[in-house]
Order: sequence, then C-alpha cells, then structure tokens
Amino acid sequence: MTPTIIAIDGPAASGKSTIGELLAKKLGYLYFDTGVMYRAITAVALNHHLAISDENAITELAEQVQIDILPPDQNDGRQYTIRADARDLTWEIRQRDVDANVSTVSTYRGVRAAMKSQQRRVGERGRVVMVGRDIGTVVFPDADLKIYLDASEDERARRRHRERIARGERVDFENVLQEIRKRDEIDSTRSVAPLKKADDAVMVDSTGLSIDDVLARVLEIVERSARG
Ligand code: DC
Repeated sequence: MTPTIIAIDGPAASGKSTIGELLAKKLGYLYFDTGVMYRAITAVALNHHLAISDENAITELAEQVQIDILPPDQNDGRQYTIRADARDLTWEIRQRDVDANVSTVSTYRGVRAAMKSQQRRVGERGRVVMVGRDIGTVVFPDADLKIYLDASEDERARRRHRERIARGERVDFENVLQEIRKRDEIDSTRSVAPLKKADDAVMVDSTGLSIDDVLARVLEIVERSARG
C-alpha cells in the first residue's frame, strides 16, 4: 500500500518544498509545508512590532493567530495562499526579515506545541506529504515513510541565492551562505525538536542532482515502501 503519511525533513533550501509539492501532485496527496506556519507567526510578530526575543509574547501570539493555508487564489507563481491576521502573507513570509528571525521563533517550546497540534490535525486525515524539520522525529514519529533530504551547504546557498535574484532582490552570495549557516546552526542545536534525521528515515542527498533526478529517486523510495 502507498504510504499515507510521507514525512520529508531536511535543512533550509534542501529542495523539500519543490520535491514535496511535485511528489504530492504525482500521488494526488495534500502537500503541507509546515515551515510556512513558523514563518507566518514570525511575519505577524514583526508586523505587530513584537520583540523576537520576547518568548512569552510570541508564544501567546502563536496560540491565538489563526493561520490558513489555502489553495492559490492568485496566479502569481504561488504554491498556496497563506492568510493570517486577516492578511495575505504569501510573499511576506519569504522576505529577509522573516528568514532572519524564523529560526529563533521556532526554538520556543510553546510555539512548537501550538504548531504541532495544528499539524497533527491536518496530517491525521492521511494522504499527505508533510515537509519540515521534525515531522519524522516529533510530529509523526510513526509516519509510514520518512525521507531526509539534504544537500551541501554551498549548493543550498546557491539555490537560495538564485531564488532571491529571480525575485528581483539584490543579494550577495556570501550573505546568503552566512544566513543559511546561521539558520542550520539554530535549527539543529535547539533543545526542542531539533533538526535531525530520524533513525528510520531514508537519506537522499540532492547535491548535483536535477529536480527530476531527485523526484525519480524519491518516487522509487515510495514505490519500494509501498511494496513493503
Ligand atoms: O522550511 P523553511 O525554511 O520554510 O522553514 C522555516 C523555519 O521554520 C526553519 O528555519 C525552522 C522552522 N521549522 C521548524 O522548526 N519545524 C518545522 N517542522 C518546519 C520549519
């Protein structure tokens, strides 16, 4: 049987969202990018001028704000529409100030607890590809299939740099590399649900591979898992 909950974890810019979306489309599953939720909380906190270091205020916000992940309602290249706090935050959550602060917000225990219960509610319905940092380790430790997607630091920074340039931003490669390093460091050393490969996750290293190559490899893993 095709696995019904597929967890894809991995570091920033490892290709999780590209592969997750393509895989979900191929299987007719829901694609759920959990990073979006942490990003939405961060964007709302910044809009409210909360201090990112104020754990209590940010936690309270995470417990109150309703984040909606909806099918795309505009034809501007978006994978989905994100609404929170009565605003469309779809592009805002990709901005640099969110990138720079989201890892800190994600270290807060109360924020993670609030996000985890929302993520479980969606995932429990099944037929879902869930993408994040702790899906296979914490959110769904019993997921039917776990994939850990990785790529070298340099390659990930190149991808993120290309993405930003394509969006019309003027950014320096070295800065993007430093930002990725910093985010990796915070995500993998935090005390609650740090980024790490689950023991039973299948590792896929996408360094030097095209999107088609990675997708083919992932589909092979899904088929193998379906055969049991
Ligand atoms: O995948 P992303 O870059 O959009 O994730 C943004 C941040 O959210 C990431 O730096 C850490 C956090 N995150 C998390 O802690 N747990 C998840 N399941 C998903 C994302």
